[in-house]
Amino acid sequence: MAQLPFAAIILAAGQGTRMKSSTHKVLHPVAGKPMLHHLIDRVAELGAERIVVVVGALSEQVEASVAGMGVTIAHQAEQLGTGHAVAQAEQALAGFEGIVLILYGDVPLVQADTMARMIEALDANPALRAIVLGFRPDAPGAYGRVIAAPDGLIEKMVEAKDANPEELEVRMCNTGMMAVRAPEMFDLLRQIGNDNAAGEYYLPDIVMLPGRRSGFTEAEPWEAMGVNNRVELAAVEKTWQADRRWRAQVEGVTLTDPDSVFFAADTVLGRDVTIGPNVVFGLGVTVADNVTIHSFSHIAGATIGEGAEIGPFARLRPGAVLGAKAKVGNFVEIKQAVLGAGAKANHLSYIGDADVGAGANIGAGTITCNYDGFFKYRTQIGAGAFIGSNTALVAPVSIGAGALIGAGSVITRDVAADAVAVARGEQLEKPGRAAKFREVMAARKKKS
Ligand code: UD1
Ligand code: MG
Repeated sequence: MAQLPFAAIILAAGQGTRMKSSTHKVLHPVAGKPMLHHLIDRVAELGAERIVVVVGALSEQVEASVAGMGVTIAHQAEQLGTGHAVAQAEQALAGFEGIVLILYGDVPLVQADTMARMIEALDANPALRAIVLGFRPDAPGAYGRVIAAPDGLIEKMVEAKDANPEELEVRMCNTGMMAVRAPEMFDLLRQIGNDNAAGEYYLPDIVMLPGRRSGFTEAEPWEAMGVNNRVELAAVEKTWQADRRWRAQVEGVTLTDPDSVFFAADTVLGRDVTIGPNVVFGLGVTVADNVTIHSFSHIAGATIGEGAEIGPFARLRPGAVLGAKAKVGNFVEIKQAVLGAGAKANHLSYIGDADVGAGANIGAGTITCNYDGFFKYRTQIGAGAFIGSNTALVAPVSIGAGALIGAGSVITRDVAADAVAVARGEQLEKPGRAAKFREVMAARKKKS
């Protein structure tokens, strides 16, 4: 993709009332990541020299959320329309003379190649003032219309509220996104008025000002999906997931039931990964090649090594690092723990704040007791160690390489390499005692 000098303005000053939320609309997550961050990351990757987010209410939330992302916040105290909103970015773009890409913070699915297409179309044609991003929705309804002239450029842009019946017949709608040149754009914005049905300063009005004409390019309808309420948020999430599943499969991942697998925005998947039904990825997961993830596993903040096998019903929490060919089986939870290559925890365990050496075997029901209600402590398990079933490892504690822990042990002291440790009540056997017991009790019952 060409790296043209451009700046992005992301509009996010709308009230978002219909979300019924105390969280700013553009901070609601899609695939675990705020909608706004999807756009910021995408334009940053495309090479945006400056990124300005225009905010109104709850601006402090937006500001805190984009801290460190190289974004400038511009304030729009009153929502006087999209044209007015864009004008608020003038100071932030002072001295910038390239192309400005205008996006909506609540329209997060617009693709990088679509953005690039808009920028390139404008850059390639100095005779044009702007490139508008159009789309043809199934129901044009309340969208602004893009009315093309016979030469393919824009004749007129009109809001549905201001349109006549003939104009409402036009199916090409305005996504709202546009590429324009700064500082010309700010001069144009000073020339538009608000004498229209909404009493707002309409950004599209800059297209009709005298002088150069504007063109348009078309987006897929799903790229223009906007979020005004939770139903639309779920629809955008669904679309994002469908696209991600498709991409995973195209890139060599087998999904036995694609519709029931949920990825996060930053999930990284190797080749020949197989993922069963009902698997959920939180943020921060990297999966190497040849990994198998069985059904009903929940994975977040984990790094999974080549050829590892997970689940069914496994939970990998942040800080879980699995070496090559490690195995984590059913009802096993791993948190802040490293499992060396080939290490196994196949059944019913909690391994938290631990380092497990290569090839170690963690028996069913093993628990690392990592928390005393105040502090967390680590457990070290050496390479090749064997931890018997139902062992409690009371951290901080260290099990040496090759050591063997007897089943049912409560281990509170370090165990040396290659030692056997058993820490449980010793077995007592009394020959014939059960039969004797039954005899005595049966006699007692007869008497009563
Ligand atoms: C706008 C377009 C319309 C297009 C539609 C696509 C105008 C005049 N109309 O209409 O042609 O079909 O989007 O969804 O541009 N915003 C601000 N400050 C404001 C007003 C809006 O930041 O003063 C932001 C909103 O947060 C939102 C975006 O701009 O992200 C669009 O605002 P919205 O009110 O949804 O515009 P529409 O009337 O739907
Ligand atoms: Mg809208």
